[in-house]
Amino acid sequence: MTSLKAFLVTAVATTLSMSALTAQARDFRLGLITPPAHLWTQAAESFAEELNERSEGQHSVSIFPSQQLGNEAQMVQQLQAGSLDMAFLTIAEISNRLPDFGALYAPYLVENVDQAAALLRSDTATGMLDQLPSLAGLVGIGYGMAGMRQVLSRTPIETAQDLRGKKIRITPFDPIRDFYLAADSAPTPLPLPAVYDALANGQVDAIDMDFDSILILKFHEQADNLLISNHMMFPMVGVVSARVWRELSAEDRELVEATMSSHLDGVITAFQQQDAEQEAELRGMGINIVEADDAFFRGVIEAWESVWAAEAPSLAVLRETAARLNSQ
Ligand code: BEZ
Repeated sequence: MTSLKAFLVTAVATTLSMSALTAQARDFRLGLITPPAHLWTQAAESFAEELNERSEGQHSVSIFPSQQLGNEAQMVQQLQAGSLDMAFLTIAEISNRLPDFGALYAPYLVENVDQAAALLRSDTATGMLDQLPSLAGLVGIGYGMAGMRQVLSRTPIETAQDLRGKKIRITPFDPIRDFYLAADSAPTPLPLPAVYDALANGQVDAIDMDFDSILILKFHEQADNLLISNHMMFPMVGVVSARVWRELSAEDRELVEATMSSHLDGVITAFQQQDAEQEAELRGMGINIVEADDAFFRGVIEAWESVWAAEAPSLAVLRETAARLNSQ
């Protein structure tokens, strides 16, 4: 081969392999509603970093926290259209589209963050994600969570009767709405970024929230009564647009799945590790604390079950799984 010919062959081969690389290289966009300081956003950032490293710089992920791309309903539409690649979403938004996921919010399905972690890691819970591609246009990679729900209020809540008529901020989704309706309170749906001002200006009397958000978003500055109820877990799911997923090579799917799922699971572990410490921190703040268990909410739970047993067929098997795991 002449040296000119050899040069041309090498140049063409290099161009071909570079264009193959370029065709596969992606700058994914990942949206979420939590602020930069939240564990979910930090997990998204570390997922982005690791994906970039493991793909040897080929793939990158730009993170859009704090609802920069819209609320979760809008992000799901973008994921379905393929204009957004990935998101970390509350299961709340998923349950608005697929009521079966409402089962994960059954009151006292689990009693604490460790039981919640075990249930979310079970085959029963992860198997529910198989519904997402065909029914929602999303590929569910795995669960994260935001601990357990509590009630922070401006005036004390000593009994379930004290919830009556109170305007209680809820994340906008039906299972939590039905829980507070059954308690004869006035559930007021507000996204996370709107909660601080609503509590400060008296738009709501109380908020349904987790220890972590109460502390990092400083809600305790505006309300100093805490009902430690652990009444529900609060799962999150990491998703990829099904349209985008179809465009990825098998190798890239495997890489995205393995990398994202380990960071999602890391969120669960982090919530397990910090739960007792955060509870102690809140108890040490001079806040008025009342503790509640399922007996506190007895009639409320029965009313909730009477609606959701039919809406969410997975409820029965989730309860069985939770009971089995909790007895181990
Ligand atoms: C909430 O709506 O309360 C919430 C959403 C995401 C993370 C934590 C809390």
